[in-house]
Amino acid sequence: MVKNSGFPLPPAFEDVDDYLHNLIELYLDSLVQKLAGEVQILNFFLGDRDLLEETVPADWMPFFDECDLDQILDFLIFFRKPETLNPPASLIDFLSKIQNLMIDRALPENIFTANPLSFLQISALSLGMSPKKIHECQYLSSAISAVCRSVDTPYVIDLGSGKGYLSRTLAHEFDCSVVAVESVKSRTEGAGRLDSLYDTKGGKRKIEALDPVFESKGSLMHVEKFVNSGDLSDIVNQSNLDGQKIVLAGLHTCGNLSHHALRSLFETDAIHGVVVVGCCYNQMTEKHVDHDDIGFPMSAKVGSYPISLPISARMLACQAPATWTKETREGFFTRHFYRALLQQIFRDRGLLEDNKDRIVIGSLRRQWYQSFSTYCMGASRRAAASHAHRIIADSSPDIQNPFEISEQTAIGYYKSYESKKRRLSILWTLMSCTVAPLTEALIHLDRYYFLKESGAREVCVSVIFDQIISARNLMVVGIK
Ligand SMILES: C[S@@+](CC[C@H](N)C(=O)[O-])C[C@H]1O[C@@H](n2cnc3c(N)ncnc32)[C@H](O)[C@@H]1O
Repeated sequence: MVKNSGFPLPPAFEDVDDYLHNLIELYLDSLVQKLAGEVQILNFFLGDRDLLEETVPADWMPFFDECDLDQILDFLIFFRKPETLNPPASLIDFLSKIQNLMIDRALPENIFTANPLSFLQISALSLGMSPKKIHECQYLSSAISAVCRSVDTPYVIDLGSGKGYLSRTLAHEFDCSVVAVESVKSRTEGAGRLDSLYDTKGGKRKIEALDPVFESKGSLMHVEKFVNSGDLSDIVNQSNLDGQKIVLAGLHTCGNLSHHALRSLFETDAIHGVVVVGCCYNQMTEKHVDHDDIGFPMSAKVGSYPISLPISARMLACQAPATWTKETREGFFTRHFYRALLQQIFRDRGLLEDNKDRIVIGSLRRQWYQSFSTYCMGASRRAAASHAHRIIADSSPDIQNPFEISEQTAIGYYKSYESKKRRLSILWTLMSCTVAPLTEALIHLDRYYFLKESGAREVCVSVIFDQIISARNLMVVGIK
């Protein structure tokens, strides 16, 4: 719920400062710090003991080893205690501290969620949209129209507009005048094709705007541009919006794009309101680590604490364990197991310089994950292409290409390490359940404080999507 504070505080808190203080205190706890950044799942097989055993208190291990895996995951993710075996008291205590600080992700009843578009599924607007996108556009377009009313303007800039689904919805259902800004040419072109398709499929003007923001005629133009600051005056000029009041909107503005959006409220005169739902926190920079003034933390308040968000914490923040199905989580576990095992092969071949070193493979298509052998095939091609410069310290002379892994070798490694996959899965789940909610809350507290400190007259963070449908569901609103 968004209480008077304007932040969806967990039930145990009434005050945002108090919440931030408690969150940071737990974030700085030594086990949370380990899970957030010190522990690298790629190093799972390094050393004699495995990483789970090295990371968690010793009295947690009998529970992890003896209890059924599904029950352990259920306990870690949903805090449902297994019937068969009692979890250790210190694990219960640890998880309850996390639960206590978790933002309530249920869709609240407030002005933003009160009137989602209900007929979008059958409208020509839903062309090309997935059910997830339909849900997002239904709720977010309605919330943006509420901010447009508050600001008293029909003008919207949609930042990171992709194929223009949100822009089209705002233009055609709310009669907003929308400028859709997107950096990737093919997406802007795709958006243009969908605009034409929408017109020819009979959408345009056949469905009367349900809830026009004003007596304006909805319009939509696309601008191809990479935005790298909060100063959007060139976009405003280019779109002939000088002198108008504008609401800046963004659906899943990845990484620092959310920061640019929030800053635009103060760095671009014409922007009077901002409504963004962020995502891809791994693409955010950190002010002090990356020496980037745009990065995290944005606010003086969060910056006053000795807190850092390492890249692994920001990657984990993109997880939503409560939404995992059995199939998706098994996919995650398998991918992490393969990646860690591959590094172990490279380590055994003397290709890694030290315990921090790794051979970065990047993401591979799904087809390569069919088995560990196929994964090794795809990964070794990548490695050979991007790491050819590596000095081969200790590799045996009969290995021509040190990155090449025969099917026989892959199967051998798989068999020797297979039994450890269970513990790796538990560790990665524990990392996700602990780090994801705390990090995402911290990022949103930072955004909230930034808007407050910069003088926005209204600031609010609210859940805007059903988390099961769209996991990144926290919307930040600022009005100046
Ligand atoms: C996660 S997608 C969301 C797309 C769209 N809003 C939607 O929900 O369908 C983020 C989009 O922002 C674009 N983008 C990312 N950084 C950008 C930047 N700095 N300037 C402009 N566009 C950017 C990406 O190309 C991508 O299309």
